[in-house]
Amino acid sequence: MTNTETIILRALIEKDTGFVSGSALARDLGMSRVAVWQHMEKMRGHGFEFEAVRARGYRLLKRPDTLYRDLIFAYLASRKLHFDLFYHEELDSTNDEAARQLASGRDAPFVVVARRQTRGRGRFGRVWHSEDNGNLYISFAFRPRLEPARMQTFTLWMGVNVCELIANFTRSTPGLKWPNDILFDGRKAGGMLTEARMDADQIRDLVFGLGLNLNSAGDAWPGPLSRRATALAEHPQTPLDINKFTAALIGRVLDAYEQFLSGTYVKTFATRWHEYDLLRGKTIKLLHGTETIAGTAAGIDDEGSLILKTERGRTERFRAGEVTIEKK
Ligand code: BTN
Repeated sequence: MTNTETIILRALIEKDTGFVSGSALARDLGMSRVAVWQHMEKMRGHGFEFEAVRARGYRLLKRPDTLYRDLIFAYLASRKLHFDLFYHEELDSTNDEAARQLASGRDAPFVVVARRQTRGRGRFGRVWHSEDNGNLYISFAFRPRLEPARMQTFTLWMGVNVCELIANFTRSTPGLKWPNDILFDGRKAGGMLTEARMDADQIRDLVFGLGLNLNSAGDAWPGPLSRRATALAEHPQTPLDINKFTAALIGRVLDAYEQFLSGTYVKTFATRWHEYDLLRGKTIKLLHGTETIAGTAAGIDDEGSLILKTERGRTERFRAGEVTIEKK
């Protein structure tokens, strides 16, 4: 996984704004200084800027604002890599690619990321717009061997972790709309799509897909979507380092998965969900199968079911459905 560019970038990142000696780099890599320089020239063509100062070496001035494989690996350096990361310029869907790899017997966990998708999918077979626009399309593949009933909280738990990470990166607070939407100021910034294959009494394998609008411009979406969608970069107006964020996300999701498997997440799960819960106390409509139920959302329970105080005066719990928030 680690190639020359990853090593160069890792050395530069570690120095932050400081200089890395060209001869030390050349020595560590076992190549000439000219060869190091040639690698840096290649990276310049992908949105990097370096400063070269005689007798001091190189430093990193600018990083690309779209995905760059070797930079993700450079950021992941401090983490022991017990997983594979497959990077693609283009895929039909990262979820589909992860499912294909699982079906062919690949060891899990592994991660699939793409700069763009031609058939990005959301829940209910909806299209997930996946241009090459500085946004993130990523899927995580697992083989959890758990009872299917345990899956109910999986996406919600991942949502909590993604939101906590976003909050750390952006200093602004995203919200979760049960069960799988990530919103900012009422607009959708991300969506999660978990797909599992079952054996009789066990989950055989599982793909967790996340689409997150990081850096796309406000006019990036077609037609009515432009009113409903937003990107993280609009909220505090500064573009995120997509590669740094992606590396942190991978670490976070893999840790969250371990906590899910061991069951330790249960202690804090519902409380942490409530921190980001956008529905609690809101008047909503829930489309559940063919039925629409109106009421006031009252949070989730430990099993991840939505608690609804219905207009009929009852408190009911729902495992699935699609929510619309009623305008006041
Ligand atoms: C939704 O809001 O309905 C879920 C959207 C999930 C989109 C992501 S993008 C990466 C992964 N690949 C897909 O085809 N879909 C998910």
